[in-house]
Amino acid sequence: MSTLKICLVSSEIAPFAKTGGLADVSEAFGRYLSAQHHDIRLIMPFYAAIDTRNYQFYPVEYALNCEIQMGSKHYTYHMYTTQLPGTDAAVYLVHCPELYARPSLYTNDADEPIRFALLNRAAIELCQRMNWAPHIFHLNDWQTALIPVYLKTLYSWDGLFHNTKTLLTIHNIGYQGSFGADVINDLGLNTYYTYFDASDLYHGRLNFLRTGIRHAHKLSTVSETYAREIQTADYGEGLHKDLQNRSEDLVGILNGVDYQQWDPQKDNLIPYTYSVHNLRGKNLNKRFLLKKMGLSYDRSIPVIGMITRLAEQKGIALLRGTLELILAQYNVRFIVLGAGEESYEQFLHYIQSSFPEKAVFFKGYDYPLSHLIEAGSDIFVMPSKYEPCGLNQIYSLKYGTIPVVRKTGGLADTVQPYDWRTGQGTGFVFEHYTQSGLQWALEYALSTYAHKNVWKKLIRRAMLQNFSWEEQIHKYVELYTRMLPGKIK
Ligand code: ADP
Ligand code: GLC
Repeated sequence: MSTLKICLVSSEIAPFAKTGGLADVSEAFGRYLSAQHHDIRLIMPFYAAIDTRNYQFYPVEYALNCEIQMGSKHYTYHMYTTQLPGTDAAVYLVHCPELYARPSLYTNDADEPIRFALLNRAAIELCQRMNWAPHIFHLNDWQTALIPVYLKTLYSWDGLFHNTKTLLTIHNIGYQGSFGADVINDLGLNTYYTYFDASDLYHGRLNFLRTGIRHAHKLSTVSETYAREIQTADYGEGLHKDLQNRSEDLVGILNGVDYQQWDPQKDNLIPYTYSVHNLRGKNLNKRFLLKKMGLSYDRSIPVIGMITRLAEQKGIALLRGTLELILAQYNVRFIVLGAGEESYEQFLHYIQSSFPEKAVFFKGYDYPLSHLIEAGSDIFVMPSKYEPCGLNQIYSLKYGTIPVVRKTGGLADTVQPYDWRTGQGTGFVFEHYTQSGLQWALEYALSTYAHKNVWKKLIRRAMLQNFSWEEQIHKYVELYTRMLPGKIK
């Protein structure tokens, strides 16, 4: 196989900086493409939140004191590099404290568009400094979506990129990078306004994602169902027409899972490993988890787990009413790990104080605890309003923690509805985004749980599902290869 040169630009890459699945997926691209001996180089911001004690970062000698003019503003940045742990892939980080030394990865600050426009330009300029012409710029979400336009405008003079193609992967259409149109000056693109959507500009807006959708050579998203959904008015968040126009160039490729990190048989973040052949450890983890959370343990009482960003997308609104009802009527335990919007945090605090013996809300971001919840819960709930792919339901399957999900996006593509008549299926799936839908699915799961042998079979079937990246990465390699004009050298 020929070696592909891929420059992957992302606003999050695990283990360095993560708020959600984008980080896991960006890391996986690095890991699985480099394992296949492709030349993959990853570029991200050097956020203040990055732990500089655990990883070694080296200054890139030919990319220090880089000067860049962004409209009227001038910035100086330095590039640092490190290896993606356990791989041969190099990660490059744009060190510009003026832009990236903030308390969180994303902000509502006035210069948010500049923070990521600079990432886009620094990625292009790093390739120039390395004199390295990637076959593909693989871009992810709005934060990297201006690269196609920059290549067509400010950098079009550089023959280095004449054969370079751009692939924009949409991980979440709910976040578009929509700003006031006057930012065009600071992007350095005011003389190139025709590259932006005329109607947006007319209404005083400029949308990074829409611009990327227009100008990238190819588009992908992270499940087949979501690829269809975002071309409809219901799910397209105002971009469905732009996507319909590019439907020939849009493909859905389901995310994979890194089973080196998420496999109960070798997970060193859980106290008891277990496998499909020996489930004893699962129950011991349940006891351990409940003790840690200060809840009483009884083998026969089901534990419902949840790990999530607390955002509208995740269907937290459906839990209102439904959760109170389930907790009042059933003998269950409910453990949720998450952080995000304050109103949802308040709701979950209220749930915990209303049912102190049954429910715990662990506010925050905690990677080891996320593994323990996967291992120690019986049921995993993910009632998303929309879900481009979703990783937690796939981790749950592997851990024999039966998912309760809504039939949307990647949830629909990874969880097969359980049917008591045939005994087939891997989880409980409800169709409509309503409280009664979620209640039905949870009650169905709880009544099935009461039949120990049936449940055991369900666990085994779930654990045998395989969504490994090894399978999925080939689909990206095929896509990259199809994008190239001729044979690659
Ligand atoms: P999204 O990217 O929309 O948040 P995904 O299911 O694709 O949804 O990915 C979420 C990732 O973030 C998973 O790896 C999940 O375990 C992790 N995660 C989310 N919230 C937390 C949290 N509070 N603590 C630890 N991990 C979390
Ligand atoms: C997004 C989506 C999620 C997806 C992840 C990685 O944040 O919300 O469904 O799994 O990106 O692609």
